[in-house]
Amino acid sequence: MHPMLNIAVKAARRAGAIINRASQDIGTLTVKSKNFNDFVSEVDVAAERAIIDTLKEVYPTHGFLGEESGSTAHTSDFIWIIDPLDGTTNFLHNFPQYCVSIALQHKGEITQAVIYEPNRNDLYTATKGRGAFLNDKRIRVSKCDKLQESLVGTGFPFRDFKHLDTYLGMFKSMLQKTTGIRRPGSAALDLAYVANGSLDAFWEIGLSPWDIAAGSLLVQEAGGIISNLNGKEGWLQSGNILAASPKIYDAMLEVLAPHLTEEIKA
Ligand code: IPD
Ligand code: CA
Ligand code: CA
Repeated sequence: MHPMLNIAVKAARRAGAIINRASQDIGTLTVKSKNFNDFVSEVDVAAERAIIDTLKEVYPTHGFLGEESGSTAHTSDFIWIIDPLDGTTNFLHNFPQYCVSIALQHKGEITQAVIYEPNRNDLYTATKGRGAFLNDKRIRVSKCDKLQESLVGTGFPFRDFKHLDTYLGMFKSMLQKTTGIRRPGSAALDLAYVANGSLDAFWEIGLSPWDIAAGSLLVQEAGGIISNLNGKEGWLQSGNILAASPKIYDAMLEVLAPHLTEEIKA
């Protein structure tokens, strides 16, 4: 394992231990609302602290972009992009679908990725150019080559409803053109499942870099394609993302195309 990935795994497991411990007694947690439908618990904060402390011990000059602590001032070419608990709403409802997501960006390119599902003890890892793995076993995107037979993941708009009608149009078309749609509630894990072939594709509007940085490398290293919803680059900035196996990627673009607004295309 690449030494930088090794440290990231250590950090993810530490955060996972905090999350698992807290999951035993969710009712006692202090939960704050950051925005409408946007909750943060003391677990999110403690897990992020543990991740950054672990990484900083080894890489004191690197930059950090964490969901809970924001961006640190730095001059480094290396930035760690961290979602300490992706799927907070699930976690707070004892719905077992959440994870820790850590990515390393080097000169603008994601080079290391860890997604850790603490309740299943499942570890997804990738290093650029070296493939994607689940618990040391190589993973690949699905072989499904017909959209009509595909299972597609997505995320519903639930905080910001400005693209709701656009999204519902996409949703309606997808329902009619695929085997089924799933909304598990953790974008990072959705991407890990595309990498693993459990989902054939995934799309969502308005995600943040920490939701997708690690998962995108997993998908690419598992042989999948990542883009904006119109097939272009810039998905890390726009947060509008399509991930798919190469066999159904074009068909996904075709279904989304009639619904794209100028803002989503930009
Ligand atoms: C959320 C989850 C969810 C997605 C949201 C994200 P959080 O992250 O990934 O699946 O639909 O857009 O914000 O808030 O649980 O870390
Ligand atoms: Ca998230
Ligand atoms: Ca989070």
